[in-house]
Amino acid sequence: MARRLTDLVKLVIDTKKDIRVAADLTVGKGKDSKYILENTNVERLYGFDIQKEAENQAKGLVGDDPRFKFFLASHADIDKYIKENLDFAIYNLGYLPGGDKEITSKYESTIESLEKTLKLLNKNGMVILTIYQGHPAGKKESEELEKYLETLDQKKYEIIKIAYPTRPHNPPYIVVVEKN
Ligand SMILES: C[S@@+](CC[C@H](N)C(=O)[O-])C[C@H]1O[C@@H](n2cnc3c(N)ncnc32)[C@H](O)[C@@H]1O
Repeated sequence: MARRLTDLVKLVIDTKKDIRVAADLTVGKGKDSKYILENTNVERLYGFDIQKEAENQAKGLVGDDPRFKFFLASHADIDKYIKENLDFAIYNLGYLPGGDKEITSKYESTIESLEKTLKLLNKNGMVILTIYQGHPAGKKESEELEKYLETLDQKKYEIIKIAYPTRPHNPPYIVVVEKN
């Protein structure tokens, strides 16, 4: 059994064979983007991050791939940049590893973005969120996200959680939202 959260995210991505249009809403170093480009049939992958450092690192990792369209912009503005429906979207919340820990995702913009992403999502589409509740802003983000997820119509959305309930120190966890 894979134990690392990032491996579990990959396992979930691997279940989704019909990804044509996707969005990586927190590109960071670009590892998720690279995985999606290399392991799915994606034709267009939109990427968002608010840090130039992330853009540089991700473009270095992904290379010159015409399918990857990066925007140096907040994911809260996804509706201004993406004018088509999505089959798949991914969030890896928190801060850039090795970067400025003050520049972290915030619950207000995360929830605004998720709301817009769910509207863009095709039937059978999937959103994966990795949520870090081990730092103060992340704890608040996790709590507010949980409240938001509870408001979603269960006839429209299936929600799955992958967590480590016996691990100490508020470990990160994964939420998968599927649109029926
Ligand atoms: C944990 S890192 C992502 C790691 C990335 N998935 C990878 O594979 O390397 C979180 C990223 O979210 C970005 N971020 C924070 N707030 C954001 C926002 N409002 N819109 C877009 N990106 C944001 C940060 O700049 C940071 O690079």
